[in-house]
Amino acid sequence: MILITGGLGYIGSHTVVKLLEQNKEIIILDNLYNSKIEVLDNIVKITNKKPKFYQTDLLDINGLEEIFQQNHIDCVIHFAGLKAVGESVAEPLKYFNNNITGTINLLITMQKYNCKKIIFSSSATVYGTAETMPLDENSPLGVTNPYGRTKLVIEEMLNDLYESDNEFGIVLLRYFNPIGAHKSGLIGENPNGIPNNLMPYICKVAKGELPQLNVFGNDYDTVDGTGVRDYIHVEDLAEGHVLSYNKIKSTKGIYTYNLGTGNGYSVLQVINAFERANNLKINYKIVDRRPGDVATVYADTNKAEDELGFKAIYGIEDMCRDSWNVHKIDS
Ligand code: NAD
Ligand code: UD1
Repeated sequence: MILITGGLGYIGSHTVVKLLEQNKEIIILDNLYNSKIEVLDNIVKITNKKPKFYQTDLLDINGLEEIFQQNHIDCVIHFAGLKAVGESVAEPLKYFNNNITGTINLLITMQKYNCKKIIFSSSATVYGTAETMPLDENSPLGVTNPYGRTKLVIEEMLNDLYESDNEFGIVLLRYFNPIGAHKSGLIGENPNGIPNNLMPYICKVAKGELPQLNVFGNDYDTVDGTGVRDYIHVEDLAEGHVLSYNKIKSTKGIYTYNLGTGNGYSVLQVINAFERANNLKINYKIVDRRPGDVATVYADTNKAEDELGFKAIYGIEDMCRDSWNVHKIDS
């Protein structure tokens, strides 16, 4: 049985669908802090299967223990965490408590119940301000905000845990920029309020909920001066978790993989791709750079390809079409 923490969230729900489609036995844990129970109904609609769901907070170690008592869990895919960079700067303790204490509770409980397989949602943010592209798994690490610190600390904790007990099988997945959604449009990313990230913002502009996109700077040393990122379809990302599970279910060790496409797209290229894919116009204006942003980030994906057989199959227009599909249905 695989426990999926944060399984009703954006990336978790797509991974749950893929695992159910492969007839894996799963349980979902989520405190619904950043998700809705309707996601579970939509997972059922897509897969015709209803996984067991616990509305439990990782900070509630007794609740967590009950789940391990009631089920034979042999692997955890650990998505649950807070992820808003700006909020983490304003409220670092909330992030340290939720992400780090939550993970410690999970690991203590796993160890108590002899569950020694875990796949952890890390982020390309652990590369800090590294400037030599592409980023491979040995690129220098760094921290630029409290959210990123939680990811780096958890990676380090998992390394220490493995050093203490070589029976563990651990995969650290460093995601680049996940966008897109399931082709049904039933699950996806639709944050409340004004989004911070590019694709949710573009969708709100396309929907007419926000007047225009602010493009943060056009004086970077990039193809057109706007920031370049490695966008990856959430369906590809979800597949990366299935491949990681297949690897560690029967192997010990600790493995770190970048999950990206290896291609960088500028903000203007993403706007163009979105317009082409959806036959829409996006209003935008160039404004000052956003503090803390770097010019270019993209992944070297060779290690994930060689060791997991991972290769992203979706292109930027697919990602733009599927991101918009969720909002179209929603409006
Ligand atoms: P999300 O917010 O959609 O999903 C996270 C889920 O975890 C939510 O459903 C939330 O309710 C739940 N959760 C949070 N704290 C919890 C707690 N203490 N107990 C139980 N449930 C809790 O986020 P996502 O985009 O799906 O991201 C999943 C993971 O991937 C996160 O750890 C995030 O930091 C990481 N990540 C995300 C991105 C991205 O751009 N989306 C990039 C890199 C890494
Ligand atoms: C951000 C986070 C990163 C996190 C990632 C998750 C920051 C500084 N970094 O990365 O830690 O792991 O999200 O996906 O918040 N842009 C605009 N206008 C907008 C929004 C974004 O021009 O309204 C530009 C940005 O300057 C950047 C690109 O679009 O060049 C992508 O931005 P975003 O989606 O926020 O992702 P990252 O900054 O890469």
